[in-house]
Amino acid sequence: MDLYIVANKEEISRLAYQVMLSKINESDNVTLGLATGSSPEGIYELFRANQPDVSHVTTVNLDEYIGIDESNDQSYAYFMNEHLFKHLDFKKNYLPNGMNSDPDAACREFEDIIAKNPIDLQLLGIGTNGHIAFNEPGSSFDSTTRVVELAKDTIVANSRFFDKMEDVPKTAITMGIKTIMSAGEILLIASGENKADAIKTMLEQDMNEQMPASVLQSHPNVIIIIDEAAASKIDPALLTQGGGCCDGGCCGGGGHHHDTEGCCGGGGHHHHDNEGCCGGH
Ligand code: GLP
Repeated sequence: MDLYIVANKEEISRLAYQVMLSKINESDNVTLGLATGSSPEGIYELFRANQPDVSHVTTVNLDEYIGIDESNDQSYAYFMNEHLFKHLDFKKNYLPNGMNSDPDAACREFEDIIAKNPIDLQLLGIGTNGHIAFNEPGSSFDSTTRVVELAKDTIVANSRFFDKMEDVPKTAITMGIKTIMSAGEILLIASGENKADAIKTMLEQDMNEQMPASVLQSHPNVIIIIDEAAASKIDPALLTQGGGCCDGGCCGGGGHHHDTEGCCGGGGHHHHDNEGCCGGH
């Protein structure tokens, strides 16, 4: 697990974009797993601004609400279209179909799509309760794409986007934890103090199903990019353990730096600039 702590959300987006771009440029047939939420918005903005060639890139999204269609501005399909898909020519974009009258069939279809397009790099945010996609606390580490009831705190967190509480969807289709773990590489991003507890627990607790993101501890290829606020509760001992990233920096959780040339700004070195990677630690 490679942990990068950067100054702010803008830096997270810049670094995460470079990691994704490296993956895109690695081969002529790539599948990216994408995420919604406020965390990836800056990354998608960089895609729009830089217009990389993505004609060989298939995308699969983590999740979708049940019962709101892509013309509804709260659906994840709408979000993805607005932020990314209508601005770049991907090979193909897939999301779970929350409008299928048989949601279980939609889940099976989505698993088939992923089986045919194995995910090379999965982008992930994290919920304040440690959920990944809509795998709420208690989700089995063996779970695959399925229909889920959203946790109360997730519904409350999502209500900021809706006029009335009654309008907030209570069910969704989500990739399962096992599905997410099948990705060749996972990139988790988080910013802000409200994610600090989830980040601390994810890194410091033993893996357990009450903290879905803790499963990432057992994935061989994980990059975590967070800002200082989200990192503020991590045990400092963890950050200095084992040498670390960025030329003597602060990579916690197992300690070696990520070594694609894209990481830390694409300059072929592991140093981010002054305020950047591992800043302040
Ligand atoms: C939702 C999504 C998750 C996302 C989380 C955090 O619950 N289903 O995939 O990671 O929100 O969102 P944000 O990035 O807005 O904090």
